[in-house]
Amino acid sequence: MSKADRLAIIGGGNLGISIAEGLLAAHYIQPSNLIITRRKVSALDTLKVQGVITSADNADAVNNARIVVLAVKPKQVADVLSPVKNFWQPGQVLVSVVTGVTITEIQALVGPGVTVMRAMPNTAIAIRQSMTCISAKGASETEQNEVLNIFNQLGKAVIIDEELMEASTVLGACGIAYALRFIRAATQGGIEIGFDSNTALMIASQTAKGAAALLLENGQHPEREIDKVTTPQGCTIVGLNEMEHNGFSSAVVKGVIASHKKIAKIH
Ligand SMILES: NC(=O)c1ccc[n+]([C@@H]2O[C@H](COP(=O)([O-])OP(=O)(O)OC[C@H]3O[C@@H](n4cnc5c(N)ncnc54)[C@H](OP(=O)(O)O)[C@@H]3O)[C@@H](O)[C@H]2O)c1
Repeated sequence: MSKADRLAIIGGGNLGISIAEGLLAAHYIQPSNLIITRRKVSALDTLKVQGVITSADNADAVNNARIVVLAVKPKQVADVLSPVKNFWQPGQVLVSVVTGVTITEIQALVGPGVTVMRAMPNTAIAIRQSMTCISAKGASETEQNEVLNIFNQLGKAVIIDEELMEASTVLGACGIAYALRFIRAATQGGIEIGFDSNTALMIASQTAKGAAALLLENGQHPEREIDKVTTPQGCTIVGLNEMEHNGFSSAVVKGVIASHKKIAKIH
């Protein structure tokens, strides 16, 4: 197999393994074309038995793959990239999923001619349902499409300006927690109106999934779908208005903005 067909993941932790497993499940790549590294290489044995090349040698990964995904912790980036700086070749693409490290910072740690892109997935990547925002300053259209295609195997992906990377972390990655808190609250309400907790959780979860699918699959605006459920003087509008009187939409907007203010202070 040629280097052009190979993809390497440096940092086979939670996210690195999810990406590898997702790409295999999608039949996007042959196991023998996928390289994944970490220092404790035995933790990658479930991938190794599927035919994936597992290793602790990052230089080997950079040498043998055209696209390299960097999935280490932010504080590990310099330690991981500095020793392999001289192994990069022009035409390679490095996609960093590391939170809060800029393209400029990473570009300084790799050779010239290497395209650096950033991707921000969320934890639903483990089940190939991630929302992944990608920034691609300086990447060609072909490279952007290639990386979009990789993350579209793992959910949905969109290209955004790098300036919006922190905002995407809030809306897409923190957003998982916001949505789960809504489901938990709906479940608690469901228990109060008569369901056991397991049934309430199933109804609330599947209903949230269906609501999201109506928007994603039909391309509708939420308010249009809401109009379909709100009979005049009916129970839905009474419940919705009660939620709004208690600050529902305002609380969500304020929460998103508070997370964004906090992330700006962290990075
Ligand atoms: N988890 C998510 O859903 C998610 C979502 C968006 C962004 N992110 C970002 O993705 C990055 C990874 O997150 P994570 O949750 O996957 O963290 P993690 O589980 O700690 O994975 C990081 C991996 O990097 C490996 N590593 C450390 N030094 C290495 C080296 N020198 N060579 C090769 N591998 C090395 C570690 O394994 P060893 O110690 O065995 O080397 C570890 O398995 C973070 O920057 C995080 O902010 C994560």
